[in-house]
Amino acid sequence: MQKTILITGGVGYIGSHAVVAFENAGYKTVIVDNFSNSDQTNLDWINKILGYSPDFFECDISDEKNFSKIFEKYNFDAVVHFAGLKAVGESCEKPLLYYKNNIFGSLVLFDLMARFNVKKIIFSSSATVYSGENISPLTEKSALWTTNPYGTTKLHLEKIIEELVNFAEFEAIILRYFNPIWSHSSWLIGEKPNWIPNNLLPFVFDVAIWKREKLFVFGADYPTIDGTGVRDYIDVNDLVDAHLLAYKNLEKWLKIFNVGTGQGTSVLEIVNLVEKISWKKIPYQIIARRPWDIAEVFASAEKIKTELGWSAKRTISDAIASGWKFVKNNL
Ligand code: NAD
Ligand code: WQD
Repeated sequence: MQKTILITGGVGYIGSHAVVAFENAGYKTVIVDNFSNSDQTNLDWINKILGYSPDFFECDISDEKNFSKIFEKYNFDAVVHFAGLKAVGESCEKPLLYYKNNIFGSLVLFDLMARFNVKKIIFSSSATVYSGENISPLTEKSALWTTNPYGTTKLHLEKIIEELVNFAEFEAIILRYFNPIWSHSSWLIGEKPNWIPNNLLPFVFDVAIWKREKLFVFGADYPTIDGTGVRDYIDVNDLVDAHLLAYKNLEKWLKIFNVGTGQGTSVLEIVNLVEKISWKKIPYQIIARRPWDIAEVFASAEKIKTELGWSAKRTISDAIASGWKFVKNNL
């Protein structure tokens, strides 16, 4: 029988790719999203790519009354839980909003899962749970510590999920994403920030299309290859493949995996790649470091390779090329 998967935050950037991937793999998805960081257009594109409309509910996950009606209507096999706010800077300005939306919202979800006996979950965590004291490559055993409320919500939710596995018969896989970038091969869905982009790639593309005058590089005095911050940029299509594999490998004990390429790329290397691919000059100005930034963060992707047989297939140039097509498609 076809399995039904609840995808929270399924209209957002990564969630929309996951909906398409799970539907294409033969599952029925049900999307719940409150449109706080997405809109009807994203949903229209999902429908266009698939050629039909997966069931969608505009609902906040903390709205227990309405959310429970969705649990009543379907017999979910599992939940892929993307819904959450994700801007580190905003979380420092509005910590309670983040605790309420991410932690309280997830508690409502977990409670409904328990009540309706839906015990399988894949949770979107983040490399942001690792302490800045670690030296990359980060393994799943690297030290954990957070410096901002967003990261704290992820770390607390990881712990809560671990205890739900230990004491409430949940089956869970926690995926710690490194830096997801860019777009589905249709170039219809991709990362489309509503405001000034927080993340590097969307900002660089904004400069490439002359929407912004220049890139501000946050620090060029780090002990890295060229002094700028190094991150592990992972193609969103590879990232959602990891979710499909995770779903097939849910078991009675908690598993935590890094989802990264294992390769680090600096800000200036990204600028060079975008210049090569777009044929546009990216003017930049070096300014002060962001307070929460870490010099170099990249994954050890060995555990997920050994245990799930997953490794990144697309190169960073592939991802940037697909991102550039998405950006031009959405001008
Ligand atoms: P996104 O903002 O594009 O998608 C999140 C979706 O969740 C949005 O559509 C938003 O409207 C929805 N949402 C938020 N709060 C909700 C609520 N209370 N009820 C219902 N819907 C709600 O973000 P994304 O980049 O797709 O990230 C998905 C998940 O992955 C998030 O949990 C994020 O923290 C995590 N993550 C993202 C990154 C990244 O760099 N993009 C890295 C690591 C982890
Ligand atoms: C990458 C590099 C910046 C913008 C964030 C979250 C993390 C995760 C992924 C959700 C850094 C530099 C950036 C700019 C710049 N999200 N930069 N100018 O900080 O690794 O991670 O997104 O979980 O939790 O913290 O990604 O894209 O913001 O920055 O110089 O305008 O680019 O300093 O070195 P980051 P990022």
